[in-house]
Amino acid sequence: MSIKTFSLWLLSLHGVLSAALPRNTSYTNPILPGHHSDPSCTSVGDTFYCVTSTFNLFPGLPVYASKDLINWKHVSNALHREDQYSGYLQIQGQQDGIYAPTLRHHDGIFYIIVAFQRLQADGETGFDFLIFNSTDPYDPELWDTPIVYNTPDLGSFDNDIFFDDDGQAYVTVHVTGEYGDNYNLWNGTGNIWPEGPHMYKKDGYYYLTLAEGGTGPNHQVTVARSEGNIRGPYEAYENNPILTNANTTQYFQAVGHADIFQDQAGNWWATALSIRGGPDNQYYPMGRETVLTPVKWDEGGWPQPEPVRGHMTGPLPPPSRDVGGEQGVWLKDGDNYETFNGPNLPLHFIHYLFPPHNLYSIADGRLRVNPTTQNLTGVESFNASTDRVALIARRQTDTLFTYGVTMDFSPTAESEEAGITLFLSQNQHADLGIVMLDGSPQVRFRITGIGAVNPYETETLAPLDPMLRDQPLRLEMQAVSETSYVFYYGAEGNDGPLQTIGMTDASLVSGGNGSFVGSYVGVYASSNGGSGRTPAYYTNWIYEGQGQMIDYNEMIES
Ligand SMILES: *[C@@H]1O[C@H](CO)[C@@H](O)[C@H](O)[C@H]1NC(C)=O
Ligand SMILES: *[C@@H]1O[C@H](CO)[C@@H](O)[C@H](O)[C@H]1NC(C)=O
Ligand SMILES: *[C@@H]1O[C@H](CO)[C@@H](O)[C@H](O)[C@H]1NC(C)=O
Ligand SMILES: *[C@@H]1O[C@H](CO)[C@@H](O)[C@H](O)[C@H]1NC(C)=O
Ligand SMILES: *[C@@H]1O[C@H](CO)[C@@H](O)[C@H](O)[C@H]1NC(C)=O
Ligand SMILES: *[C@@H]1O[C@H](CO)[C@@H](O)[C@H](O)[C@H]1NC(C)=O
Ligand SMILES: *[C@@H]1O[C@H](CO)[C@@H](O)[C@H](O)[C@H]1NC(C)=O
Repeated sequence: MSIKTFSLWLLSLHGVLSAALPRNTSYTNPILPGHHSDPSCTSVGDTFYCVTSTFNLFPGLPVYASKDLINWKHVSNALHREDQYSGYLQIQGQQDGIYAPTLRHHDGIFYIIVAFQRLQADGETGFDFLIFNSTDPYDPELWDTPIVYNTPDLGSFDNDIFFDDDGQAYVTVHVTGEYGDNYNLWNGTGNIWPEGPHMYKKDGYYYLTLAEGGTGPNHQVTVARSEGNIRGPYEAYENNPILTNANTTQYFQAVGHADIFQDQAGNWWATALSIRGGPDNQYYPMGRETVLTPVKWDEGGWPQPEPVRGHMTGPLPPPSRDVGGEQGVWLKDGDNYETFNGPNLPLHFIHYLFPPHNLYSIADGRLRVNPTTQNLTGVESFNASTDRVALIARRQTDTLFTYGVTMDFSPTAESEEAGITLFLSQNQHADLGIVMLDGSPQVRFRITGIGAVNPYETETLAPLDPMLRDQPLRLEMQAVSETSYVFYYGAEGNDGPLQTIGMTDASLVSGGNGSFVGSYVGVYASSNGGSGRTPAYYTNWIYEGQGQMIDYNEMIES
């Protein structure tokens, strides 16, 4: 379809639909719960697509599809093969990697443009720009090698790609310092960190939205526009910011980094990131999540998003789960893998950095995980170019949940260990495992909180009851409130209750060294620097959401 036909079609559609009254329905935020920061979304026909930041996680750049803006299916990951791009090998620390993608569709092709932060050849941390494309986002294999460019002139992050009516594409990006031969469009309204730009064209104007104020309490969305000329001058809207929860006591804070799109009925919407828990909160284990808000955008006027709350109303499309993608996974459905069917892991399973090549295999319904020498913390000299971590996880997507696995692991070598973890960063995780110590298997519950806002470390050891040796064990964790997790273990298949071994406060996995990301739950296996090579076998991987907190003292069903 040519661009000209497309705009004519939109015009006639608008004529028909402006007569119809939009019917509001209610919904709740967040729409993409769990670590889903910097959402970028677009609509194509009757379907919406979003992609979010993933930093040091692999696979990266999850692509979600929906027909009703509420039920989202994880249909592919744009960065899914190690040979697509090797930048993960130069990741340092806990906040490098994928920063703030933009997803757009043009002329039958989906594009994702994104910056990747890593150690550069000159020894400084810098950004590569990656452009992925696919004609079919439902096919996880189709996202191929990105075009990678690295121009010192554009040594920054948060790229936008905009296709003008004549087919010309423009990239807008946050720049600190020199911008070479490029155009300085707008400095924002004067807050720190004018970033997250997105360009739109409507009614003869180019609209440029920004995130400002930093991705914390003062986060906000601002807008400027230029009439007819994409290079400016850009006139700032007099009532900026158009969207923020700054200086409020709202439960949803840090609202910003928005992207605006239109549905088939002509209604406008914005997604943004937000952190749940109120202004002085210490507990936000899911980090920055994706929220949705309706936008009023009259002809020739400025976009006016509704303020973000837990309870919202808007002219949503009718509920539908008629979304493609055979391998897709509904984000809010939880996991119930009694057995695993290989050869691949489910699309929403993630690793910290590139996983080891022989990380896992699936046979007879069991997930076999081979240990790495490194453990989840890693040694002081941990180097992403050579060191790998045996971790298979999924996002925490609910305030309250239970996650558990059945583990078959009989350690033979000193210090080898396998179990389940609540993980935010290498310096912030709580692990429940079986470990070989002084020649006998022990149950160990260990909290590594050296990167937490209030750093601490604890360890609880209990000898493994001889009755429980060499047989499958049930390992579970439960978020019993918005502030605490309890860990349990016991015999698999035993009708009696599991035994509690310890608990952790959610501040362990809120901010600190992992302030850009959110918590994951999963399984690990490590020799802890020793010579152990005993694999661990997992079945009955269950993740069940048990409540979503959307306001102070308001817990709704997951
Ligand atoms: C899509 O990506 C491939 C692989 O990098 C590249 O060869 C091709 O030119 C890209 N297509 C478009 C339209 O950008
Ligand atoms: C942005 O700020 C710089 C430094 O003050 C100034 O030189 C430049 O003209 C400003 N750009 C715009 C588009 O206002
Ligand atoms: C919030 O209040 C502070 C202090 O008064 C002010 O500097 C800031 O601009 C306000 N933020 C917004 C988005 O209104
Ligand atoms: C629908 O909700 C929006 C706010 O999201 C409000 O502005 C509008 O008046 C409502 N429309 C109807 C028909 O109730
Ligand atoms: C990590 O290892 C690579 C490859 O051996 C090396 O080039 C790089 O300097 C190391 N990085 C650090 C921070 O030591
Ligand atoms: C973790 O955070 C602490 C405190 O902010 C900081 O000193 C330390 O460098 C961080 N470590 C890493 C690996 O990011
Ligand atoms: C992780 O493994 C290293 C050896 O590789 C070991 O020194 C360290 O104690 C282990 N971490 C913990 C918390 O056990």
